[in-house]
Amino acid sequence: MGNQELLAQLEAKNRRALEGGGPERVRKQHEGGKLTARERLDVLLDAGTFQEVDRFKTHRCADFGMEENKIAGDGVVTGWGAINGRQVFVFAQDFTAFGGSLSLAHAEKICKVMRMAAKVGAPIIGLCDSGGARIQEGVNSLAGYGDIFLLNVMASGVVPQITAIMGPSAGGAVYSPALTDWIFMVEKTSHMFITGPEVIKAVTREVVNKEDLGGAMAHNAKSGVAHFSAPDDRTCLQMIRQLVDFLPANNMEDPPRAACADSPDRRDESLREVVPADPNKPYDMRRIIQSNLDDQAFFEVHQHWARNIVVGFGRLDGMPVGVIANQPAVMAGSLDIDASIKGARFVRFCDAFNIPLIIYEDVPGFLPGTHQEYGGIIKHGAKLIYAFCEATVPRITLITRKAYGGAYIVMSSKHIRGDINLAYPTAQIAVMGAEGAVNIISREQIQAAKDPQAERARLIGEYQEKFSNPYRAAEMGYIDDVIDPADTRPRLIQALRMLRSKRDTNPPKKHGNIPL
Ligand code: HXC
Repeated sequence: MGNQELLAQLEAKNRRALEGGGPERVRKQHEGGKLTARERLDVLLDAGTFQEVDRFKTHRCADFGMEENKIAGDGVVTGWGAINGRQVFVFAQDFTAFGGSLSLAHAEKICKVMRMAAKVGAPIIGLCDSGGARIQEGVNSLAGYGDIFLLNVMASGVVPQITAIMGPSAGGAVYSPALTDWIFMVEKTSHMFITGPEVIKAVTREVVNKEDLGGAMAHNAKSGVAHFSAPDDRTCLQMIRQLVDFLPANNMEDPPRAACADSPDRRDESLREVVPADPNKPYDMRRIIQSNLDDQAFFEVHQHWARNIVVGFGRLDGMPVGVIANQPAVMAGSLDIDASIKGARFVRFCDAFNIPLIIYEDVPGFLPGTHQEYGGIIKHGAKLIYAFCEATVPRITLITRKAYGGAYIVMSSKHIRGDINLAYPTAQIAVMGAEGAVNIISREQIQAAKDPQAERARLIGEYQEKFSNPYRAAEMGYIDDVIDPADTRPRLIQALRMLRSKRDTNPPKKHGNIPL
């Protein structure tokens, strides 16, 4: 063949590969409200940056007539590209080709880009839309999942791993997403479950539809498996771009600093009024968080689950930070099982990827009750302590109101290597609230008093004056300073700048044993 003919052959092969499973299946995909794999990559990546690998790869299965049934690319589009100019590796499962099901060849393609991502140190983003293990391939497709799981674990803490569930994800196939750092889901079109509604009905007689079982909100609000929910494919992909902007490419890099037009000296006098004088009155901690961040922009993570703790990303003077905050507007900000798990995982991600932590604290303690005790609040609460104790990134804590009991220690106190610990004048750092404390330590004195009510009130006042303030802790050096709330942003930025070159280490070991 001459050169012209060879080029024509390449063009024809490329054209066929780009068609995926063909126009009819593409039409079905669109009718279902979903973009195709290639359309998704067009939205995810900067225009013209996508470099594909393995476009012509096909499966090697000879059973069930598969020898004659081959589609170039074998149901997954893989390669690399850029998000706002920064390199990422991608794979997008193509539901139009064999239902995006995973053959050994399909798995090899995914593994190839995962290995490249780990080698060059760049995030790996997977867009999942798949019927699971390629049924015709039997154990070979299961082997493919095993290969991916192993690479997921090897890449964990080395490069950020992001998954978007954009179609079905069932059975053991859910475990690769679960091993990654972040899971996005698209409302109505994505579903994740270990066993589907029919199996559940057969085994337990429980009747549940697939949306309630494994839809976006089921996993965002109930199980906590997913971190983000998006109304459609495009929004989901834009949200991934936003997340990537906060993250370093790998664990050896600092997170990317952005130009900042918001003055680092900006004060906010309205913050003086946010914390109510009544210690039992709720308020929204996000009001303080947003005020402090550059352009008041807070990218909240896990927004719908364990809402008594708030986590997310933002910037201070252009530097990405991870925010973790008790939320007094929900369950008075108490720490329960879910909040502990949510907080611990977020702290560990930030620590693995050199993202400084800003901790906002208003916590009355761990949530009491048999449900919590039987559910293992002891081991789950320990996760949060463990995560903070081992974290070596810069950590700045701000106590806005309650810092009671064990929860005071947990929330990145000085005692567990908090770097800079600040408090508002409204802070109350004590073993417990005044009323509870007086009832325990002065019960007899109250009972013996002529006017027990008056005596109780007097003792509460005395306790509050002595202990329900930040000054006892400040006298001990457990709090570095008590600050005017109006100065919060400048004070956080000054501390963060001071800590930029922080280096701290943990003893060498194979790995610790976080209470799982
Ligand atoms: C091979 C598959 C497939 C699979 C779908 N297809 N799933 N081919 N292996 N697992 C093919 C279909 O034959 C069809 O081909 C095309 O993909 C689209 O599928 P439809 O059924 O027409 O689409 P839809 O009605 O939208 O239903 C999608 C679906 C359903 C819900 C995903 O296909 C389904 O239930 N598939 C099987 C799911 C499953 O049980 N997978 C195994 C899970 S266990 P044509 O040629 O007609 O377009 C697992 C183990 C992992 O994954 C273990 C890890 C350790």
